[in-house]
Amino acid sequence: MINEINIKVIDRNGELHNLKGPIDMNLNVMELLKINELPVEGTCGGMAMCASCHVYVVSDHILPEKTFDEIAMLEESWDMQDNSRLSCQLKLSEQLEGLTIQLAPEQ
Ligand code: FES
Repeated sequence: MINEINIKVIDRNGELHNLKGPIDMNLNVMELLKINELPVEGTCGGMAMCASCHVYVVSDHILPEKTFDEIAMLEESWDMQDNSRLSCQLKLSEQLEGLTIQLAPEQ
């Protein structure tokens, strides 16, 4: 049983960041990005109500389904793509080990 996972993040300058995150603290990816001082706002605090934590999933992980609220919020984003997710809706779990994401443009 692991208690820490690795996540790769490509920032808006194309730079790669290798992050480690605990899976036993109920954190989500948006919170991990903020802890590591990557430029995501997370304005709504993880309620799927702002899209300021929008990322693109680059790796081919099978992720938890999007909720209705997440889909609705992403559809309002001009830069939504098929691989868009709200990072606050992705809880750190073993399932996310090795995940690679790219930060979406600023809202
Ligand atoms: S922090 Fe607002 S939608 Fe993710």
